[in-house]
Amino acid sequence: MRTFGCQMNVADSELMAQVLGEHYDLTSRAEDADLYLINTCAIRRKSEEKVRSLLGSLKPLKRARPELILGVGGCVAQQEGERLLAFAPHLNLVFGTKGIYRLPELVDRAGRGERVVDVALERDLPNPPQRWWSPGTVQTMVTIMQGCDNFCSFCVVPYVRGRETSRAPGAIVDEVAAFVAAGGLEVTLLGQNVNSYGRGLPEPMTFPRLLRRLNALPGLNRLRFATSHPRDLSPELIHTFGELSALCEHLHLPVQSGANRVLARMNRSYTREHYREKVASLKQACPGIALSTDLIVGFPGETEADFIQTLDLMGEAGFDQAFSFKYSPRPQTRAATFPDQVPEDVKAERLARLQAVQDELTQKAHARLVGQEQEVLVEGRSKRSPQEWCGRLRTNQIVNFTGPRELVGHLARVAITEAHPHSLKGRWVEGSPPRDRGEERLRTSPREVACSER
Ligand code: 5AD
Ligand code: SF4
Repeated sequence: MRTFGCQMNVADSELMAQVLGEHYDLTSRAEDADLYLINTCAIRRKSEEKVRSLLGSLKPLKRARPELILGVGGCVAQQEGERLLAFAPHLNLVFGTKGIYRLPELVDRAGRGERVVDVALERDLPNPPQRWWSPGTVQTMVTIMQGCDNFCSFCVVPYVRGRETSRAPGAIVDEVAAFVAAGGLEVTLLGQNVNSYGRGLPEPMTFPRLLRRLNALPGLNRLRFATSHPRDLSPELIHTFGELSALCEHLHLPVQSGANRVLARMNRSYTREHYREKVASLKQACPGIALSTDLIVGFPGETEADFIQTLDLMGEAGFDQAFSFKYSPRPQTRAATFPDQVPEDVKAERLARLQAVQDELTQKAHARLVGQEQEVLVEGRSKRSPQEWCGRLRTNQIVNFTGPRELVGHLARVAITEAHPHSLKGRWVEGSPPRDRGEERLRTSPREVACSER
């Protein structure tokens, strides 16, 4: 299985593996595979191109093993449907973002020679199968809602993920409780716009109420969520930060642009002033909170003056991290039809300037942490050096540090010693015991995943 795109896709891939688990095991060698699934992302043209090029490169594999079932799922599959079969004659199966639960049947049909397309985008969210986690898993993602009703003018998500649908709170609480009972420590709640969780449910429910219910589960140490729309960040939600002990002091709050004219044309329904007020309230409610954001440069009609406004807002908000992108026109979206598209070279130049500003802000935020002792959830070996371990702070920064192997899968105290552009360096504070309840289990099965830096 190959996965492209956001955390939602990673969670979906995990679900696919579980749905198919009765018949298939995962393999890391493509040559051994009986079934090859690509879970795709359509957010920018580049993401879509990666899928097309991977499909092309799989032709020899399929030629050597004609019985291999090759399938494409996720957002590009949803967007392109039947057209993908025409693009790739060696493709057996196309399934959309809601087709995951039907996979066993779809794969079976593909195995019997049919070229299958299933891109129905129904509203209902079927209950996922009973989840399980392999021993030693301490972090997981739980999807709480899918789809989006916002129709930001640049964004393809509402077309490929459908309308906003929330999962029943009881099912979410049960899933998180089962994970914690199995030794889990950290849960990230996922949805395209988690702040509006609960709309349309038969029982009255809001996102802050869901957070409170989860926070009450004993043993849940870290709770995170992504992604938030600034408009739906209510005062009640702001106040959960600093109040709920499990809720990590980090919020990803995509602003996209700092210019009101651009925000209006993006259909974001907030202004830079609203955004600044929300940031100020967050910092007041939770003084140590770290903020990250998403930014688009070169949106149609963006002038140099608009762009400067974005740089200004970045400095004011003091983002710890920013994910920035050149605007990419997407099928079906309104902005793709706007006449005043910005030339590629201008987009590239603005992106480089913006990233230089953010690099400086990140470096400053990292420098402030040097000399502090912090709690790290240790995820596995560092990518940079096999002698070091890697984990994250509650505020989401990556830390590479030295210490004993037994810390993997635990919460450890680490003294931060150096600030780097994309990570921190530290040293385990000797004598501080690993903190959690699943010590024996983890010692026999350490989870040694590599941390990524960006
Ligand atoms: N072009 C560039 N960036 C985009 N994003 C979403 N759609 C586009 C697009 N058409 C960015 C937004 C969003 C993030 C996930 O991807 O910043 O928050
Ligand atoms: Fe896309 Fe806007 Fe929905 Fe986010 S809120 S998924 S950017 S349409």
